[in-house]
Amino acid sequence: MKKNQTVIVTGASQGIGAAIVQAFLDRGYNVVATSRSVSKAGFAPSANLALVDGDIGQAATAEKVAQTAVAKFGSINHVVNNAGIFSAKPFTEYTAGEFRNLVSTNLEGFIFITQLAVKQMLSQGIGGSVTTITASLATNPIAGLPASISMITKGGLNAITVSLASEYAKSSIRFNAVAPGVVDTPLHKSNPKDFLKTLSPMGAISDSKDVADAVVYLTEARHVTGEVLHVDGGAHSGRW
Ligand SMILES: NC(=O)c1ccc[n+]([C@@H]2O[C@H](COP(=O)([O-])OP(=O)(O)OC[C@H]3O[C@@H](n4cnc5c(N)ncnc54)[C@H](OP(=O)(O)O)[C@@H]3O)[C@@H](O)[C@H]2O)c1
Repeated sequence: MKKNQTVIVTGASQGIGAAIVQAFLDRGYNVVATSRSVSKAGFAPSANLALVDGDIGQAATAEKVAQTAVAKFGSINHVVNNAGIFSAKPFTEYTAGEFRNLVSTNLEGFIFITQLAVKQMLSQGIGGSVTTITASLATNPIAGLPASISMITKGGLNAITVSLASEYAKSSIRFNAVAPGVVDTPLHKSNPKDFLKTLSPMGAISDSKDVADAVVYLTEARHVTGEVLHVDGGAHSGRW
């Protein structure tokens, strides 16, 4: 149990983010949960939970989230950058607007809140962690499932995770990523399960809890930094 530790979770209203919020509440953390509509997500009210609505690609939302964490709980100890959008299509069919949306949510959504959290962690002087949800597809593309422009963002997040792990190691602020394969969330509501099962050697679809368990592990793994942990049924380990 982690009394008096505060974790910010983005993209918290459903799917993987909602499971991450619940996992940290169950372990006694204070949680600041944010997404555009998180206040309507149906979380049971709790003294350990603060909800902030807003688009995480906007700097003003990140400000509000960081201020809420400090005002309500007195610290920011951990961040989980989970908010993300995904679209799969041939490279030539992506529009400029789709690219900008991907950059806004997946990259600016990481940068703004992580900058504020790192500044706060540095002022607290006791380290912390940042865990980011990327994607197995970023380094292990699957023929028949093209997602190149989406993967610019996820590959970029893997890269900045390693850079920041190096930059802040001496301040004991750790940076890790979880790279899921296919996870059963509303993101896949229009994709047939029989097809999704073919996308990993284990022939199975992960639950949000499988990803949340990996996030909790990395958040508490005090000597693990710069790591990308695949939760993908073996999809990163080669052809099947
Ligand atoms: N499901 C998979 O198979 C899979 C595989 C690999 C990686 N991932 C990654 O895992 C993460 C979570 O995915 P998921 O499957 O749980 O997705 P999801 O069910 O679509 O949920 C996405 C979450 O992000 C929030 N969100 C979206 N755009 C936002 C924005 N502009 N500002 C703030 N919040 C925003 C949504 O809430 P609001 O609508 O309330 O804003 C929602 O809570 C994403 O980064 C995704 O890329 C998922």
